[in-house]
Amino acid sequence: MNAAMNFTAATTTTKPHSPFLTGGVSLLRTSPTLLPLHRSPPSSIRMSLRDDGPSLAVVGVTGAVGQEFLSVLSDRDFPYRSIKLLASKRSAGKEMTFEGRNYVVEELTADSFDDVDIALFSAGGSISKQFGPLAVEKGTIVVDNSSAFRMVDDVPLVIPEVNPDAMAHIKLGNGKGALIANPNCSTIICLMAATPLHRRAKVTRMVVSTYQAASGAGAAAMEELELQTREVLEGKPPTCNIFSQQYAFNLFSHNAPILSNGYNEEEMKLVKETRKIWNDITVRVTATCIRVPVMRAHAESVNLQFETPLDEDTAREILENAPGVVVIDDRPSNQFPTPLEVSNKDDVAVGRIRRDVSQDGDSGLEIFVCGDQIRKGAALNAVQIAEMLL
Ligand SMILES: NC(=O)c1ccc[n+]([C@@H]2O[C@H](COP(=O)([O-])OP(=O)(O)OC[C@H]3O[C@@H](n4cnc5c(N)ncnc54)[C@H](OP(=O)(O)O)[C@@H]3O)[C@@H](O)[C@H]2O)c1
Repeated sequence: MNAAMNFTAATTTTKPHSPFLTGGVSLLRTSPTLLPLHRSPPSSIRMSLRDDGPSLAVVGVTGAVGQEFLSVLSDRDFPYRSIKLLASKRSAGKEMTFEGRNYVVEELTADSFDDVDIALFSAGGSISKQFGPLAVEKGTIVVDNSSAFRMVDDVPLVIPEVNPDAMAHIKLGNGKGALIANPNCSTIICLMAATPLHRRAKVTRMVVSTYQAASGAGAAAMEELELQTREVLEGKPPTCNIFSQQYAFNLFSHNAPILSNGYNEEEMKLVKETRKIWNDITVRVTATCIRVPVMRAHAESVNLQFETPLDEDTAREILENAPGVVVIDDRPSNQFPTPLEVSNKDDVAVGRIRRDVSQDGDSGLEIFVCGDQIRKGAALNAVQIAEMLL
């Protein structure tokens, strides 16, 4: 287990956590290659519990993202004077250890946010809609991982490396609450790579095809993929509680609801959120989102069309210098980003950088991007947002 965080089985119904979640055996230990990828190093001396730090709350702390929040806060020595661990009634009373101290998970209620400066929410859209505004009324700055407020006009939708200015007006310590939305995980991973190129050559059209991991659907989906894999190998019918069809040894269109235009909600998030984050309603975006039986970390094929030419060598150089991005693009040995390699890492990896032969001159590029969507696609991005408030 991660030294910073530890679940204590306080009730007999507590399930052991998937080894693919933070705190378990890192997938990277099984990775065959040595990577240049970055993860904030855990420090041995914890200075994070400090009287001058903000008071924190983590909403949905027992979930896949909630667990990762704790890990990222600890890895980055985020300062805090107190931390409240909140989840549903089901988890109330469970004990957790965080940074060597014991905490009891509390049930989320309307009173949870008294004296909370920053709340990191990851308990689903309906919980955010119900409790986010209540927290804001109490003066709390809410960083929300759900889609509940992303497209609300005066709620900033922020990727710190991309559009930090969008939240420049929100300040900690003036008693005023506010909402800041974390973009969808596929959008974050895509725009971490596409934005540095967009800044140079202006993207006019982007075509995204995703290969999305079980982790994007939460801890229970990861457990179901593990279970199904075992069941299929043993010749048993797979248990389908989270997804309506067999996931192990299969792939299928993303499980988000299908809209009247034939796109699913996940695909339209990429379309709408890109426009909001880039503050560009003219950029044309289309997406096809697919679930693949990968435990953790999303992959995306991204095709870009530019207003001004951008050759592949210049694009590679731009990406090599982009914060939070690492280039893995070794053509001779056919080594490119994989979900396994980026699992539990902060950086988004980009490779397969090549001129799009279907477009004239250097007006188009193909890239392949992988990122840990529980980390950069959710918890890390949200904690980076919180860091900008300090
Ligand atoms: N997974 C990702 O990669 C990812 C990425 C970006 C955004 N998100 C978003 O983050 C949110 C959580 O995702 P997840 O993957 O972490 O899901 P998850 O593993 O299923 O965890 C859900 C969390 O929400 C809590 N919760 C459920 N009902 C609640 C209630 N009535 N009151 C308080 N807490 C409640 C759960 O607590 P109990 O354990 O007590 O039920 C649990 O802590 C979702 O909005 C999701 O869209 C997820």
